[in-house]
Amino acid sequence: MRKTIIAGNWKMNHLGSDAKATITGLVSRIPQNVKSEVVIAPVFPYLPMAVEFTKGTPVHVAAQNMHWEESGAYTGEVSPAMLVDIGVTHVIIGHSERRTYFNETDETVNKKADAALKHGLIPIICCGETLEQRERGIMQSWIEGQIEKALKGLTAAAMTKVVIAYEPIWAIGTGKTATSAQAQEVCAIIRKKILALYGSVAADSVSVLYGGSVKGKNVAELTGSPDIDGGLVGGASLKVDDFMAIIENAV
Ligand code: G3P
Repeated sequence: MRKTIIAGNWKMNHLGSDAKATITGLVSRIPQNVKSEVVIAPVFPYLPMAVEFTKGTPVHVAAQNMHWEESGAYTGEVSPAMLVDIGVTHVIIGHSERRTYFNETDETVNKKADAALKHGLIPIICCGETLEQRERGIMQSWIEGQIEKALKGLTAAAMTKVVIAYEPIWAIGTGKTATSAQAQEVCAIIRKKILALYGSVAADSVSVLYGGSVKGKNVAELTGSPDIDGGLVGGASLKVDDFMAIIENAV
């Protein structure tokens, strides 16, 4: 049985004082036996603080990106070993904003996913189509291509640790949520592709999240769909009340 995952991607938001208030507010309200796996992804400078304040709580800490190399002359980059060293457990890989603004490609996503798994980090690998691709009728082939390239060369055993986040680009930060039927359709396409590539153990254990304007009021319907195992939340993860509403209403 796959556990529901609610992950908050803070993107480039919150200075230290707001980050601290959000994390401490969250851990003060989240019950120890919360039914979903809860993850927060602050910016790099506040990861150590997030790890410290979530210690002994059910909240896990993710980075929003990383490099795939171990160390070396890569100015401005952070390695998987460094994330593990400070107690980070998850890492978001290939978010559409990184693909659009920072030249992230399917190949770099694949290298990062592989490196994350080799270091024991759980990769949350993002995929998603533009509105134009959806309207041209190429959504399915685009998503299947992204999944195949992102997962290339991973072992079936490693696949059981992978989390995929389906984020239709047209639904990110726009207030437009994919209907639960639209999200379910694509999450099922992703799971079928994993079944074809890696077999049923991997397909049954991979968590597939939906991201794009997830809120407290739509999360139950989304996570109630058979192939949607949780949410990757942007804007609504920045305020404790909004994020708690999502955690409490997820099924
Ligand atoms: O990674 C989460 C994200 O891109 C969705 O953002 O603000 O639409 O929830 P938002």
